[in-house]
Amino acid sequence: MVEFNLPLNSRVGQGQTFKAPAGAKRVRDFKIYRWSPDDGKNPRTDTYQIDLDACGPMVLDALIKIKNEIDPTLTFRRSCREGICGSCAMNIDGSNTLACLKPIEDVKGDVKISPLPHMPVVKDLIPDLSQAYAQYRSVKPWMQADTPAPPDGERLQSKEERAELDGMWECILCFCCSTSCPSYWWNGDRYLGPAVLLAAYRWIADSRDEETGQRLDELEDPFKLYRCHTIMNCTNTCPKGLNPAKAIGKIKQLIVERHG
Ligand code: SF4
Ligand code: SF4
Ligand code: FES
Repeated sequence: MVEFNLPLNSRVGQGQTFKAPAGAKRVRDFKIYRWSPDDGKNPRTDTYQIDLDACGPMVLDALIKIKNEIDPTLTFRRSCREGICGSCAMNIDGSNTLACLKPIEDVKGDVKISPLPHMPVVKDLIPDLSQAYAQYRSVKPWMQADTPAPPDGERLQSKEERAELDGMWECILCFCCSTSCPSYWWNGDRYLGPAVLLAAYRWIADSRDEETGQRLDELEDPFKLYRCHTIMNCTNTCPKGLNPAKAIGKIKQLIVERHG
């Protein structure tokens, strides 16, 4: 029988346990993935016992408490702490989400936290998003129009045209969706993934943009677009409640229509 084993240097070991202070009544264990590029060691899981009575309600509050009060070496990204910047995306309790929007109380038992899956890790909970950003850049996520704007005002849209962008402009590029997509895991070097395809469709759907044909030409590719097999993990995981799978379906539909 074939045996699948992780390479020895990928096995996640047992790390340290940081005990809760004496007298803490509502203690919860946070089990957090740790890895540093600087020490040559394997990844490990450290356990931090947090007194929930002395901590804010969200998972990000616990991470900040750990960094400030227990272990300053813990490394993670965050900025806005209100679901706007997309920095604190990570895998919590088995799902990709934003630590600042995830209530600790929603997790039953230990709170297990690891970086977004299937991305190279920079350190601890920080994934390397360089490839995803390069893919984002590749779809030219800005308005392209040769027609000059009216000299005395903005390029206007009807209410209906503007409504076409709802469900897309809200994307905060956290990449929770792309890193939950099996097709992106296996072909992330060539498949653009749901976050970038949603961004691509946001400009295709914009009535002011004049490069729709060129944008569709560039997406009509067996890998860039057609690795999406409508598995729907992306839509199920989006912490902003968006539907990248639907946007991908609309791109495919437009490509079919122009061949029709
Ligand atoms: S619907 Fe497409 S993009 Fe979304 S998870 Fe499935 S394969 Fe990936
Ligand atoms: S669609 Fe949702 S999960 Fe994907 S990058 Fe945008 S906000 Fe994040
Ligand atoms: S800190 Fe900005 S989205 Fe969580």
